[in-house]
Amino acid sequence: MIKFLIQGTLVAPSGSGGSDQWIAFSGVDGVSISGGGTIDGGGSRLWACKLAGRSCPRGTSSLTFVNSKNIAVDGLTSIDSKLFHIVVLRCQNVKLSRVNIVASGNSPNTDGIHVQMSTGVDILQANIRTGDDCISVGPGTAHLWIERVFCGPGHGISIGSLGRAQGQRAQSSCKYANGVASGLNRERKEMVRNKQVVLKEFVVGAPKETDMEIRQGKVSLRAPTGVEGAIVVKNLYLSCDPYMRGRMRDYSDSYIPPFQPGSVIEGFGVAKVVDSTNPNFCVGDYITGLTGWEEYSTIVRTEQLRKIEVFDVPLSYHVGLLGMTGFTAYVGFYEICAPKKGDYVFVSAASGAVGQLVGQLAKLHGCYVVGSAGSAQKVDLLKNKLGFDEAFNYKEEPDLTEALRSYFPKGIDIYFDNVGGAMLDAALLNMRVHGRVAVCGMVSQHAVSDPKGISNLYTLVMKRIRMEGFIQSDYLHLFPKFLPTIIDLYKQGRIVYIEDMNEGLENGPAAFVGLFTGNNVGKQVVCVSRE
Ligand SMILES: NC(=O)c1ccc[n+]([C@@H]2O[C@H](COP(=O)([O-])OP(=O)(O)OC[C@H]3O[C@@H](n4cnc5c(N)ncnc54)[C@H](OP(=O)(O)O)[C@@H]3O)[C@@H](O)[C@H]2O)c1
Repeated sequence: MIKFLIQGTLVAPSGSGGSDQWIAFSGVDGVSISGGGTIDGGGSRLWACKLAGRSCPRGTSSLTFVNSKNIAVDGLTSIDSKLFHIVVLRCQNVKLSRVNIVASGNSPNTDGIHVQMSTGVDILQANIRTGDDCISVGPGTAHLWIERVFCGPGHGISIGSLGRAQGQRAQSSCKYANGVASGLNRERKEMVRNKQVVLKEFVVGAPKETDMEIRQGKVSLRAPTGVEGAIVVKNLYLSCDPYMRGRMRDYSDSYIPPFQPGSVIEGFGVAKVVDSTNPNFCVGDYITGLTGWEEYSTIVRTEQLRKIEVFDVPLSYHVGLLGMTGFTAYVGFYEICAPKKGDYVFVSAASGAVGQLVGQLAKLHGCYVVGSAGSAQKVDLLKNKLGFDEAFNYKEEPDLTEALRSYFPKGIDIYFDNVGGAMLDAALLNMRVHGRVAVCGMVSQHAVSDPKGISNLYTLVMKRIRMEGFIQSDYLHLFPKFLPTIIDLYKQGRIVYIEDMNEGLENGPAAFVGLFTGNNVGKQVVCVSRE
């Protein structure tokens, strides 16, 4: 290994000396450049010439590696290159870490890092501000990993020239901020096996594992050419949600259409983009939104997806705490419950995905909070980990009305209802004047083919109670406020989140069915793959 320590500033000669390279390594095996120094290409006069449209030399790239391998550049700053700042051409095993690249926003052809016909190139923690592409990827590049790149100004990360150069399909330019790209190999065309969870028939009563089956399908890892802006994703984490039971019945009058028997089940997930013809999503991006219960999915309705930009919380939290269920708790509590400090709050299914967060938000709001759950373990969690004032196992209470009376001797101001049925009836009898009931869901009714009516609705009049159902998706305009709020609370340790992870897609049906028997402790997620 040849080691170069650059600690000061190396300034390029004013002319090009007849070459298009200033510092170049050709045919070397093992070079490291470190020391925290700077290379200054002195390009401003040449840019001015080019911008004026005069006849000028092409310029020199500042640092070039060609036909070389085992290269490491760490902590180098490159400023004002006349042409590309760093070029990696026909190289193997190159690691560029913590490089800073700076050139004026209107400097022409000053790409930050250009990689071409190279394999195994890692670009990590780069800070690139140029007048052209931050990173440009030419043809013949494989196994390129780009992580935590800040780009701007600059044209982002461009891999568009591949198609032009080799007759391959071009990919749109991508802009990353704190982005990740991996495993780029545009020559890959293969079909791969694709394990899938399929709904067999419409479900009647409580869902069973046998209502679903595992099927071996096949999928192309290339985004379809006939569809504008599609992406192919590798699914990592899938969310198990009670509402999915509603999509397993033959009923089209809901806010979301039913699944089709014989088709792959759909749900919220976290996934990684493996191919894209969509300028908003690049290979290597992590996304969250509706995807298939399968290893790989082709997603055409990309407008419902959100690119993940927060990586210092577990990725799977983007379907729980930071996803649809966390958001449900947030809008349900703040928008529907109209909470006030000192309110008496009751939450059912309190240890679940939604309930655990509702209770914690209520505590932060200065409320007195009691939760119900279906096991001693969950009651213990509520009291000792999630900070509820009290909790009880509803399965052990012979009389729910009396149980609630003992926990709320002065009555309930807010009931956050996740279960419906007998618990709702009992809560209605315990409400205070001007109480609020947020009807979030009725999980107890999913398994009941002949649901019983609610008997105590007359209390709505006597106690002037407001009872309101809601669907979180009606409040999506609040998502940009929700996300940073919850992230901050989590990072400050003011809320915790409990997740229940089942490993393997084939265990998805059991995980889903378990929601209706109370098997899950916390947010139920299925891990399809960790990467
Ligand atoms: N309105 C919206 O926009 C929206 C969005 C998301 C979710 N939701 C609703 O919110 C509720 C909670 O969803 P989640 O995702 O947080 O699920 P979850 O609470 O994590 O899981 C479901 C839980 O329901 C409880 N349960 C199952 N059968 C029950 C029964 N017969 N009686 C009483 N409790 C029963 C079980 O806990 P125990 O062990 O405690 O019984 C189970 O763990 C559901 O009703 C769901 O449909 C609504």
